[in-house]
Amino acid sequence: MFSFLSRKKELVGLDIGASSVKAVQLKRVGKGYELVHLGMAPLNPETIVDGVIMDGGSVISAIQQIYQEHRIKTKDVAVAVSGHSVIVKKIRMQPMKEEELAESIQWEAEQYIPFAIEDVNLDFQILESRGGSAEMDVLLVAVKKDVINDYLTVISSAGLTGQVVDVDAFALENAYGISGEVPRDQILALINLGATVMNINILKHGVTEFTRDSAIGGNRYTESIQKMLGLSFEQAEKLKMGTAVEGRTLAEAQPAIDMVNTELAGEIRRSIDFFRSSSQSDSVHKVVVSGGGARLPGLMNFLGQHLEVPVEVVNPLRAIRADPKQFDPEYLEFVGPQLGVAVGLALRQVGDK
Ligand SMILES: Nc1ncnc2c1ncn2[C@@H]1O[C@H](COP(=O)(O)OP(=O)(O)OP(=O)(O)O)[C@@H](O)[C@H]1O
Ligand SMILES: [Mg+2]
Repeated sequence: MFSFLSRKKELVGLDIGASSVKAVQLKRVGKGYELVHLGMAPLNPETIVDGVIMDGGSVISAIQQIYQEHRIKTKDVAVAVSGHSVIVKKIRMQPMKEEELAESIQWEAEQYIPFAIEDVNLDFQILESRGGSAEMDVLLVAVKKDVINDYLTVISSAGLTGQVVDVDAFALENAYGISGEVPRDQILALINLGATVMNINILKHGVTEFTRDSAIGGNRYTESIQKMLGLSFEQAEKLKMGTAVEGRTLAEAQPAIDMVNTELAGEIRRSIDFFRSSSQSDSVHKVVVSGGGARLPGLMNFLGQHLEVPVEVVNPLRAIRADPKQFDPEYLEFVGPQLGVAVGLALRQVGDK
């Protein structure tokens, strides 16, 4: 899943999120990376529901809009899927070689996957062969084939070629991996708070040990405000961003926001507790938040208090060089936390699985 080999062929990382499509293209320069393209286009809330594309036409238009606006020429893209159609599980097995596991994984996976095995694409990563132990840990990944096909169909209808299909959680792991901020001895929880999905990803020694997608995101705040103050979704979304609407102020929306904050913190805490009890590991040392939801005023403080660990926002662009003549540094600082998945995808290369 890590792919730090020299780039064989150019690839655009295309994050098709529920609230917007984001495209990132990088260039390898020496040991680091440089930003080549960065584009975003908004999507309506009904376009993608629980990681499933409901309105392909809108997604195609958004992709084409980005390509035209930024004059992107590279047709090969990497995309990621998330939500209920993705299952990631750590399993314990008899030690065996990678080739052996590749042959038996189909059969092994059956007991862990809640879908018919012929309906999913399987992948795995051997986490660590426990020295001297009679067992090894394997991270098993299953994604429903029809969801992958939907994404690939949209990509090809937009005139592009899907070369890599990844999972949000692993794209985030890769994006965070180049940040140079992964203390090898620490356990980190990466949180990506999108519009409809929150990815929780717990890394040990920089590698994913536990991951979970939860159907709570920025939209939950918007809906909570909408209900409490009797506004439309669009109005509530504006208010959430700090603009007063219909004479309502952000302060009036605060109780609605606090309710979701509590729910969100509970969800993260449960995942951390589950990880700790199932892996017999230390607890998480730090929580690192990305996604548009990280901008919600007061959320970082709230999480810090409730989780009792340091919480910070991560911007994967900080580790990437960008020409200030082409990209406004202030804009990059603002938008960066939203680009974790797109950057992680842009790091992949053609020929990867
Ligand atoms: N300043 C802000 N204050 C509060 N919320 C914000 C702010 N800016 C963006 N958001 C929220 O962030 C969310 C969008 O984040 P992001 O772009 O990471 O999601 P996405 O990738 O489109 O969705 P998903 O990952 O669920 O598919 C929206 O819910 C939006 O309201
Ligand atoms: Mg997202």
